[in-house]
Amino acid sequence: MSVEVYLNKGIKEIITEYPEVEQILNEYEVGCGACEEGLCLLKDIVDIHNLDDDLETELMSRISKVIYPNKKVMFPKRKRKTQGRKEIKYSPPMKKMVDEHVLIKRWLALIPKVIDELDLETEEGIQLINNGIDFIRNYADKYHHAKEEDETFKYFDENLDIIKVIRNDHVKVRGHVKAMLQAIKSKDKIALAEHLSAYSEILPEHIKKEDEILYPWMDRSLTTKQIGQLYSKFNEIDEEYGEAPEKHRIFIEQLESRYN
Ligand SMILES: [Fe+2]
Ligand SMILES: [Fe+2]
Repeated sequence: MSVEVYLNKGIKEIITEYPEVEQILNEYEVGCGACEEGLCLLKDIVDIHNLDDDLETELMSRISKVIYPNKKVMFPKRKRKTQGRKEIKYSPPMKKMVDEHVLIKRWLALIPKVIDELDLETEEGIQLINNGIDFIRNYADKYHHAKEEDETFKYFDENLDIIKVIRNDHVKVRGHVKAMLQAIKSKDKIALAEHLSAYSEILPEHIKKEDEILYPWMDRSLTTKQIGQLYSKFNEIDEEYGEAPEKHRIFIEQLESRYN
């Protein structure tokens, strides 16, 4: 069978046939085995993860050795638009979303302290947690995820694994937020702490996937015209939200100075 056939095979199928391939992918930080979807084709994986040229050659030669242990067979080289992923250069709209992640990560860093000091009895304690939930719902979800889901994803096939994985994370996060609101209502500190902590465990990995894999891949896939359209749409969204993101930034800053 020609080696190209494997490029067009689903990775889970290849891993089932050649379990060693999963281990090899893990060594290159391409965690397909752990992926919930896993329907990507080998060629999509190579494209999405955009390893440096030499690393990719090495990875593909190791995979081909597993598939053809007795022959020297090489995968054809992929055409590249950009250099490897070492230094990621984002387009302006992707850069905007990466910058929004920075504020979200500052909030994530505060969550352990917020959990330690959870107080659902005093007005001040309730205010603090309400502001935190407001940040999660209105900044991280509505303002930021809207840019991802409603604007950026529409340029891509909804059935791609990478899009599904990201969307599933968003759905999970929304589930925890719903549970947090319920917990506040019933003054259930334990449940609130549990869901805050689950939220803070999903998001760092989620953001890393977006910053390092999803956004660079989208940048490579979109045309210059589409990137321009996206950027002007993002500017419209920013205008629509007005001072609201600034209010959230101030909340994070105040919380930081309170805890540090
Ligand atoms: Fe996201
Ligand atoms: Fe994001």
